Amino acid sequence: MDLKEIEKSAIIEINNAHDIIELESIRVKYLGRHGDLTEILKSLKDFDLKERKKIGPKANDLRQELEKLLQNRKNDLVHRADFPAIDITAPGKKKEIGHLHPISKVQEQIEEIFSSMGFSVAEGPEIETEFYNFDALNIPANHPARDMWDTLWLKSQDSTPTPNKKLLLRTHTSPVQIHYMETHQPPIRIIAPGRAFRYEASDASHEVQFYQLEGLMVDKNISFANFKSVTSAFLKRIFNKNVKIRFRLDYFPFVEPGAEIAVSCPRCSGRGCSLCKQSGWLEIAGAGMVHPEVFKAVGYNPRDVRGFAFGFGLDRIAMVKYNIPDIRLFNSGDLRFIKQF
Ligand code: FA5
Repeated sequence: MDLKEIEKSAIIEINNAHDIIELESIRVKYLGRHGDLTEILKSLKDFDLKERKKIGPKANDLRQELEKLLQNRKNDLVHRADFPAIDITAPGKKKEIGHLHPISKVQEQIEEIFSSMGFSVAEGPEIETEFYNFDALNIPANHPARDMWDTLWLKSQDSTPTPNKKLLLRTHTSPVQIHYMETHQPPIRIIAPGRAFRYEASDASHEVQFYQLEGLMVDKNISFANFKSVTSAFLKRIFNKNVKIRFRLDYFPFVEPGAEIAVSCPRCSGRGCSLCKQSGWLEIAGAGMVHPEVFKAVGYNPRDVRGFAFGFGLDRIAMVKYNIPDIRLFNSGDLRFIKQF
C-alpha cells in the first residue's frame, strides 16, 4: 500500500467506525507497531536521500492527519447520545460470601477440643496400599474381617503388584496410626481427621465417601479408663447438650478389647426412626485398646507400650450436633441446606 491508498482507505474506515473498539483496531492497522503507515515510516532509512526527502514529510503529515481524525471520531463516539452511560447511582451487585461447610466447622471444633487435651493433628494419604489399610492393622489377606470394609480398589500401573502393595481408597483413617507410629516414638497423642471411602449402598446414615476422625494415644501405662475419660470429655464438649452416650463391646482386629460408641438418635431422641433403624441409637465410633500385633507391625515392643485408638464418623457427629436427619444432604449441593450453617 502506498501513502495515497493508505490515506483513502483509512479515512473511510475511521468515518465508518461504529464504536471505540472498532476504532482502536483501525488505529492498530495503520499506526500500530506493525501498522501499514508505521512500516513505511520505518523503511524511510532505506530510501536514497532524494526519495526520503520526498516521501518523509508526506508520511509524517499523513500520520498527524490520521491521529487527528481518530481523536475526533473517538470524541464523537464517546459523546454520542446512545453511548451507554454509567449510572453511578445504580445499586452495586451484592457479592455472595461463602462460609465453611458444616463438616469443616465440626472438624475445626474437634481439633480445638483435642488440642486443649494435648493432642496434635496428623494426616495420611487417601490412596493407600493394602499393607497400611489392612495387613499392618492385623487384618491379613483372607481374614474374614476384610469383608467389614467393602473396598474400592484402584488399578495399578504395575500389572502384578506385590500382594500387600495393591492400591485402594482407604476404607478408614486407621492407616494413619501406622504411618505415625512408624515415624514417631511414644508418647503419642494424635487425632487424624480425613476422608474414607467404602463401596456400599448409601442411606440416611451411610455414604460412599465420608469423613472419619482417628485418634491414637500411646504411652507406657495407658488404660481403658483413660480411653473412656478422654472420649467422654470430648463428647460432652462437642455436643454441648443432652445426648446420651453408650459404650458397648465390639470387635475390630486391631484393638483388644474393642468398643463401639453410640449416642441417642438426634432425629427421634431415642424413640426409634429410620435414621437409627428403630434402635434409638446412632453409632458414631469404633474404638479400643491397640492390639499387640499392631505395635509389632510398627516395630514397637508390645510389652513396653499400651494405648487406645478410636475412629469417629465426622459426618455422624455433625448430624447429631446440628440435628441433620440424612447424611446425603452434606454432598447434595443444595444451597438451601448449606446456607443454614
Ligand atoms: C472403623 O472404621 C474403624 N477403623 C474404627 C476404629 C478405629 C476402631 C480405631 C478401633 C480403633 P467402623 O467401620 O465402625 O470402624 O467406622 C467407624 C465410624 O465411621 C462409624 O461408627 C460411623 O460413624 C462412621 N462410618 C462408617 N461407615 C460409614 C459410612 N458408610 N458413611 C458414614 N459414616 C460411616
